[in-house]
Amino acid sequence: MKFAIIGTGIMGRGWITQCSMTGHEVHCYDGNNEILAGTIAASEKLTGKVAKKFKIDDPDFVSNAVKNITTYEDKGSFIEAAKGCDVFLEVIFEDLKLKCTVLSELLPQLPANVVFWSNTSSLDINPMAEAGGRPDLSIITHGMNPVPMMPGVEVVPGAKTNAETVEFTRQTLLDMKKAPFLAPNIPGFWVNRLLVPQMLDAVRLLEQGKIHVEDGDIGLNTSLGHPQGTFKLHDFVTAPTMLRVALQMYQASNDPRMYPPLTLMRMVKNGEYGASSGKGFYDWSDPRSPKARDLSQYVIGSAEDMTDSLK
Ligand SMILES: NC(=O)c1ccc[n+]([C@@H]2O[C@H](COP(=O)([O-])OP(=O)(O)OC[C@H]3O[C@@H](n4cnc5c(N)ncnc54)[C@H](O)[C@@H]3O)[C@@H](O)[C@H]2O)c1
Repeated sequence: MKFAIIGTGIMGRGWITQCSMTGHEVHCYDGNNEILAGTIAASEKLTGKVAKKFKIDDPDFVSNAVKNITTYEDKGSFIEAAKGCDVFLEVIFEDLKLKCTVLSELLPQLPANVVFWSNTSSLDINPMAEAGGRPDLSIITHGMNPVPMMPGVEVVPGAKTNAETVEFTRQTLLDMKKAPFLAPNIPGFWVNRLLVPQMLDAVRLLEQGKIHVEDGDIGLNTSLGHPQGTFKLHDFVTAPTMLRVALQMYQASNDPRMYPPLTLMRMVKNGEYGASSGKGFYDWSDPRSPKARDLSQYVIGSAEDMTDSLK
């Protein structure tokens, strides 16, 4: 099978790795040349981690996977390669307008049988499907981070997705060793519909001074079995992606609980993105042993605390 992937950031690299290590050809493009340039090395590193974690004792596992990846600096060459692919997968920023603009430019250039997958974590499939001009062959495949370590993939058909596309997608994902499950086309689908409000509440409770990073994460880890707590997960998702996802979910639902908390905006403004930037809720100077940061600068208390202090 051949895949064309646009967007080689955190999630794009995860998908590139998943495709390449399960024997598929992957053709990739990113609008940011610097990010594109680091893609193969990042995928090689991730494949190495997979080999270690799953105790794969094939000495050629990593090099064979990497051979399946081709990157293109030039969009025209990428499109030429995508014309020969079975699946076109978009993994660009979580911005509906941007995704629709990109899809309306690129998908009409591809043969009619190429299936379109989107890795969006919260957006409505229907406008993207219509923008690309092949709604019957369009579907969401929302992978989790990091893709090669987390088997789950939400499969979200749109209003016009045909049954063949759903079955092709499910079967292709199973063949790629993923665990697909059907989810509804509502803001955030199944996983983020539950998870995002919880993560945003955690940030609000932190800025109200009700919880510290370390206690919050220990609590969820030891009480609910979450492998990471909410703040560590936030650092892996990154603050800019959380900001975009929350805003898009707010705009789609009008639910004030989805609106990005001020602390999230401040962290984005300060470049405190999370694990990838070295600093978020944790200090990631030593990535193997992140340390919860003192975030008292972001604590303002609750409105109740403030009015009490005025008495
Ligand atoms: N980060 C997560 O944990 C996570 C989890 C699941 C799903 N997602 C979803 O995956 C998608 C990508 O998220 P990410 O975390 O990988 O973001 P990211 O910022 O790491 O990567 C996005 C990439 O898209 C590229 N891009 C943006 N506009 C482009 C364009 N017009 N043409 C070509 N390339 C373009 C950027 O240069 C960037 O490298 C989003 O829809 C996000 O909601 C993210």
